[in-house]
Amino acid sequence: MTARAANFNLDSVLAELKETYTNANPLSAAQHHLACESLPGGNTRTVLHFDPHPLTIAGGSGATLTDIDGHRYTDFIGEYTAGLFGHSHPKIIAAVQAALGEGILLCGPNRHEQRLSALLCERFDSIERLRFVNTGTEANLMAVTAARAFTGKTHIMAFDGAYHGSVFLYANGISPHNAPYPTMLGEYNNLEHAVGLIRQHANELACVLIEPMMGTAGAIPAQPGFLHGLREVCSECGVLLIFDEVMTSRLSRGGLQYHHAVTPDITTLGKYIGGGMTFGAFGGAASIMDQYDPRRPDCLPHAGTFNNNVLTMMAGCVALEELYTADVAEHFTQQGELFRQRLQQLADDRSLAVKLSGVGSLMNIHFSRQPVDSPQVVRKVDPRLRELLQMAMLAAGFYVGKSGYLALMLPLTDDDYDRFVQAFASFLDHYGELIDDTVDGSAQ
Ligand SMILES: Cc1ncc(COP(=O)(O)O)c(C=O)c1O
Repeated sequence: MTARAANFNLDSVLAELKETYTNANPLSAAQHHLACESLPGGNTRTVLHFDPHPLTIAGGSGATLTDIDGHRYTDFIGEYTAGLFGHSHPKIIAAVQAALGEGILLCGPNRHEQRLSALLCERFDSIERLRFVNTGTEANLMAVTAARAFTGKTHIMAFDGAYHGSVFLYANGISPHNAPYPTMLGEYNNLEHAVGLIRQHANELACVLIEPMMGTAGAIPAQPGFLHGLREVCSECGVLLIFDEVMTSRLSRGGLQYHHAVTPDITTLGKYIGGGMTFGAFGGAASIMDQYDPRRPDCLPHAGTFNNNVLTMMAGCVALEELYTADVAEHFTQQGELFRQRLQQLADDRSLAVKLSGVGSLMNIHFSRQPVDSPQVVRKVDPRLRELLQMAMLAAGFYVGKSGYLALMLPLTDDDYDRFVQAFASFLDHYGELIDDTVDGSAQ
């Protein structure tokens, strides 16, 4: 082992990187201070804040972002999956311009909502009918509401550590800010525990809400058998199974439900499907969704001024029909698998406590020796290591978030991937010893 300088410890290295960052970004720092006067903490979307202050982004093109200090970054966050098509895809722009040309807020059904809904019903096996909303959060709210109305039962089950939107937050148990449904929490990838809870509460449990891969919790895939087991016990107990595929629907020709060959009763969608416009949808078996048929005397009303807004509908049609076809989805998922394996190999070659988790184009870099199969493993990671990664990669010109989550975008080139791999290798070479000491608990 090489002798290290006395000040080469995690806190001092981080402090130095943050100072360099602030000095390099005076306009972003000033903009942040200005924003703090009218937005709490200068922020209106918690995930975008990081210390010492976030970058203020001025624009984007393809897979490149530019901040107001004039730095350019290759984008590996991909707007947490919504930015799949990059920043300014000409076909998306043309679709939005065409929509604007036809007139907006027309207060009537339009042809594009029919076309987009038909495309989605064709793409996702579980969806016979669907309704549009505006965000993934709203999609989950509606899915849970639909399940409660359909079953006549009150309770919902989610999983410890999960994130299903700003009122469905289970990062540390049940958040007091959550929608006030009576809720119980299972343990992700612990089938026995989940089956026990579902059977015990079958009489009051309306639905189980689950991501077929946990996203925000750290790109934690469901283990084989877990989703199948949930499907079985839900059917047995008259409980609806809801797959939140807001992030994961891109991971095969028909989402992760197709990949795992499990058909949920309701699926929720969001993010990239609107081509970058605000988007959400919930859909499923006709028997459940037809509760919303306004021709029925007992119809459940479902409102939403912007549900069928023409910008989203037209951009969404182009997104699915021309850009992210089923074949592109399969190919891009394979490409993501290879990229994740390359990053893992770099860590393994150096025997470092670094684990990559994920499926296809969605992944997370973790500082751990244990395989990452539950949020409990992620909770043990020292958050300073994630900050170290973020500061080092930003300094190298790669836009990455504070959690180590990466969502690949279609416009990334082979050269972009190669450069990221090189920068990650340099990061590991430079800080590998610090990482291991911190993970193994022997850091100073
Ligand atoms: C799995 C999952 N569900 C729901 C949501 C909420 O979507 P939105 O931010 O559009 O409300 C998110 C957002 O990140 C998500 O990751």
